[in-house]
Amino acid sequence: MGIVLKSSKQIDKMRIAGGHVAEILLILRDAVKPGITTGELDAIAEKELARRGGESCFKNYVIHKGVPPYPGVICTSVNDEIVHGIPGKRVLKEGDIIALDFGARFDGWVGDSGLTVPVGQISAQAQHLLDVTERARAVGIEQARPGNRLQAIGRAVQQYVEAQGCSVVRHYTGHGVGRQMHEEPLVPNYVDSQMDNPILRPGMVFAIEPMVNAGRAETRELSDRWTVVTKDHSLSAYFEHTVAVTEAGPRILTLPLDAD
Ligand code: MF3
Ligand code: CO
Repeated sequence: MGIVLKSSKQIDKMRIAGGHVAEILLILRDAVKPGITTGELDAIAEKELARRGGESCFKNYVIHKGVPPYPGVICTSVNDEIVHGIPGKRVLKEGDIIALDFGARFDGWVGDSGLTVPVGQISAQAQHLLDVTERARAVGIEQARPGNRLQAIGRAVQQYVEAQGCSVVRHYTGHGVGRQMHEEPLVPNYVDSQMDNPILRPGMVFAIEPMVNAGRAETRELSDRWTVVTKDHSLSAYFEHTVAVTEAGPRILTLPLDAD
């Protein structure tokens, strides 16, 4: 299939989808506090998504044969959970960090975004991890411009994260995004000389989503077949934006609609 280029009109539609996704994530961020369950956050997202006429990209998503379809509208990954944590009865407590990941389709176009949120007061180390990861996303986005190679994104993320004493998860990557949540190419957050390294062109749209561990990069999958944790139980954070490569440089599509 290759990388599907989007016209500027199509990118404007993706901007609207991204705007809804961003606004719903802000509602979730504000709802995060000690005592709320991850399932309650999922219910808020589901209700707000329906109210706005969007459709979840996560619910019922099949990742591999033999793994049950994903049951939530969002992923909720707490502390040493990296990604794909399933919302449920878990009660958030003061000092936790929670990654919220949300992808939805509006008028045929997908927005995919996420962030990691402190629950009440968190430790200085946890705050540092959040700052490094959010900054890593910005450093990666900065490279999403015409003429650069794809791997410029991962190289910038990896260099920055490792200079801060943290590690970049290898087992999961960002991806192209458009009518489908997962399109070509894979967008790694590290340099892998085996992977494709196309020249970036206007009209490419990527989900850039560094996953950063305070300790080592290795991951482990839990028996629910979804939740991914750090092997060494260190804290992990994640931030994601959907970003279009345009003549004028990177355009972040998953910001609130009034941000442009
Ligand atoms: N943002 C994640 C991704 O890009 C979300 C996948 S969760 C799933 O792959 F439930 F859809 F699998
Ligand atoms: Co994604």
